[in-house]
Amino acid sequence: MNSSDLTIAIVGATGAVGRIALDLLAERNHPAEKIVAMASARSVGKKLPYRGVDLTVVEATPDAFAGVDVAFISASSEVSKRLAPEAVSRGTLVIDDGSAFRMEENVPLVVPEVNGADVEWHEGIISIPNCTTTPLVMALDALRSISPITAVTVSTYQSVTGTGAAAEVELLTQSRAVLDSEDVAIEQYPHQIAFNVLPQVDDFLTNGYTKEEDKMLNESRKILHEPALRLASTCVRVPVRVSHSESVSVEFQDAVSPEEARDALRDAEGVTLVDEPQNSVYPMPTEAEGADEVFVGRIREDIAHDTGLSLWLSCDNLRKGAALNALQILDEVLRRECLKPSPKTAVTQA
Ligand SMILES: NC(=O)c1ccc[n+]([C@@H]2O[C@H](COP(=O)([O-])OP(=O)(O)OC[C@H]3O[C@@H](n4cnc5c(N)ncnc54)[C@H](OP(=O)(O)O)[C@@H]3O)[C@@H](O)[C@H]2O)c1
Repeated sequence: MNSSDLTIAIVGATGAVGRIALDLLAERNHPAEKIVAMASARSVGKKLPYRGVDLTVVEATPDAFAGVDVAFISASSEVSKRLAPEAVSRGTLVIDDGSAFRMEENVPLVVPEVNGADVEWHEGIISIPNCTTTPLVMALDALRSISPITAVTVSTYQSVTGTGAAAEVELLTQSRAVLDSEDVAIEQYPHQIAFNVLPQVDDFLTNGYTKEEDKMLNESRKILHEPALRLASTCVRVPVRVSHSESVSVEFQDAVSPEEARDALRDAEGVTLVDEPQNSVYPMPTEAEGADEVFVGRIREDIAHDTGLSLWLSCDNLRKGAALNALQILDEVLRRECLKPSPKTAVTQA
């Protein structure tokens, strides 16, 4: 079956990810009459422009999934937990952007360039990873083809749209308030985000790491099928509108030269090498915004470790970090002809 033959629902169509999902479907010429824009009761009747027509938002209720072949859910964990089983029971394949099901044993967690074959054992729900995990595993997957990875240390620089549309508004509003020497209103984060950086993304766990940092570890292990992968991260929110960046140090079993790493990353699907530091050419969020690839550069020896390399990456969190990855999962499902669940033993799962 072709993607354009399907009736597709976007749950959360009014949100940051949902809007990009609509843009991507439009880029692919998906017919408007086969798109159902869903959101909360607050948005019912709202018009969303799509390929020259207006889609009218309907409330995401269980019965709204009747006749829907595929639903992309980009709302919240609570919404996914409530609606995904209802959609599945009506014969809909759910591709879920949130964290509700990512670590469930019967739910594939997929970045098609890395573990596309995992879509084959879905039972009605497929999850996409966190927007920091996706670009990281794409780079790690390319690098581990040279030598097994023994440890990874990451610091992230995460944009506010990773939190959602309301956080983008808050960054812009706070920035104006600071420039006008007015009081700053704080709602989305524990502190002001304008002209600041916050070494906290999500809540803290008892081990001193945040839930976001915990997700990077567990999701990377599951996608890469490396249950013992050693990975520590510090997730940081920065006053950037779109695109997450990451400073990554990788330790290998055997020494890997920067040139070998560049060759592997240059060949990796979905990765673009941007690595001319002498000319101040390297990945940046402003360049990654609106693009589909993971941009990698600043590749160099990690002089603190004998067999280590350091690199820097940037990736649009709303596209490859969310909506694009979800659409590519559907492409993978169609290519492998497994739209309907055919549960198998999850032999490939970590
Ligand atoms: N932002 C990212 O970079 C990113 C990356 C990967 C994954 N994700 C995941 O994607 C999901 C959406 O994130 P976002 O950034 O797009 O958030 P957002 O901008 O806050 O949008 C949330 C969407 O959810 C809808 N919604 C809220 N309550 C609902 C309900 N009861 N029923 C149906 N729809 C409801 C909202 O509709 P109304 O307008 O009607 O309130 C809105 O369309 C989250 O699970 C997030 O973890 C986000």
